[in-house]
Amino acid sequence: MTASDLAYVPFVDVEEMMHLVLDIGLETCLADLTAYIEEDFRRWPLFDKTPRVASHSRDGVIELMPTSDGREYAFKYVNGHPANMKKGLQTVTAFGLLADVESGYPVLLSEMTILTALRTGATSALATRILARPGSQTLAMIGNGAQSEFQALALKTVCGVTALRLFDTDPEATRKCMANLADSGLAVTICNSAEEAVQGADIVTTCTADKQIATVLHDNMIGAGVHINAIGGDCPGKTELQSDILNRADVFVEYPPQTRIEGEIQQMAPDFPVTELWEVLSGAAEGRRDSRQITLFDGVGFAIEDFSALRWLRDQVVRLDRGQRLDMIADPDDPRDLFGMIERERHRRAAA
Ligand SMILES: NC(=O)c1ccc[n+]([C@@H]2O[C@H](COP(=O)([O-])OP(=O)(O)OC[C@H]3O[C@@H](n4cnc5c(N)ncnc54)[C@H](O)[C@@H]3O)[C@@H](O)[C@H]2O)c1
Repeated sequence: MTASDLAYVPFVDVEEMMHLVLDIGLETCLADLTAYIEEDFRRWPLFDKTPRVASHSRDGVIELMPTSDGREYAFKYVNGHPANMKKGLQTVTAFGLLADVESGYPVLLSEMTILTALRTGATSALATRILARPGSQTLAMIGNGAQSEFQALALKTVCGVTALRLFDTDPEATRKCMANLADSGLAVTICNSAEEAVQGADIVTTCTADKQIATVLHDNMIGAGVHINAIGGDCPGKTELQSDILNRADVFVEYPPQTRIEGEIQQMAPDFPVTELWEVLSGAAEGRRDSRQITLFDGVGFAIEDFSALRWLRDQVVRLDRGQRLDMIADPDDPRDLFGMIERERHRRAAA
């Protein structure tokens, strides 16, 4: 590959992402992403790992999430602003980049608002497939916002969920979610409270947005054998579960140094025992031991999942010959003559 080839960076904008999802099929995307994330979790020790770099403000957070496997490097820019919705803006938006470690040149730039929703659904699906009781079919989905349909469909596709019980403090969100899933094949029930939603559920996913220590799930709502994906608590001072649940559950996390800052376990002592999800995949740690155990995936979203998502997307762009070519890397004929490149442009403009 020449420098000129690398100067033009493949770019997936929002429209292209939507077309890719529609052409490949949303459920196929979710299943494939789950496989890519699993593949990278299985080689976890290879990756550079650091808690994401967060810049907090009164109403939200802006974060950078970098990682590398030594061959490729990725980062995501993502925000989390729960108050945005009232202003007609999204809570979460994102974009990201994949680069070649050998040259340091980017190989893909992409929108990641949609991709984040897909990868977050896929990560929950991976955790649920590993940890939920075999035969789990009913999912209670608390928080029916932007992420919710992706969460539900990922668990349908990857884990065999057939029934969905919805609750959101805003009935409008629940109506939107139900309408969007009308043709999904899931049997959807609207519930009037979180208590009602969890009744009979094998799996409970909390995906609410509130910048506070909230109690979306009380201890008495969680019976034996349930698997919980707690997705919405992903920032210091922003949790969803009563801490008693954490004491009754076996807690599984992505990367403990980040989860202890951001996850449900920020409520617990610094040495609160957790198991890393990748260790269950590698066989180094035990997952579910019996059908009465409560398993909790305290998911905050880790950089390796975004790396996997960008890797998957790059493979689709290559396979389907998609994406624009963005003139993003300045590419002087003589690599040391960047200044001269501007000068030559000055002469070209003067002559024109
Ligand atoms: N763990 C991850 O990897 C990951 C990835 C993406 C988003 N998130 C987090 O997930 C959360 C949801 O994201 P989103 O994009 O769907 O947000 P969103 O704003 O689109 O939806 C959140 C929904 O939660 C509802 N809600 C708020 N408080 C509630 C409560 N107490 N009970 C029931 N419903 C309640 C709101 O009415 C809203 O409909 C955010 O906190 C976001 O930061 C986590």
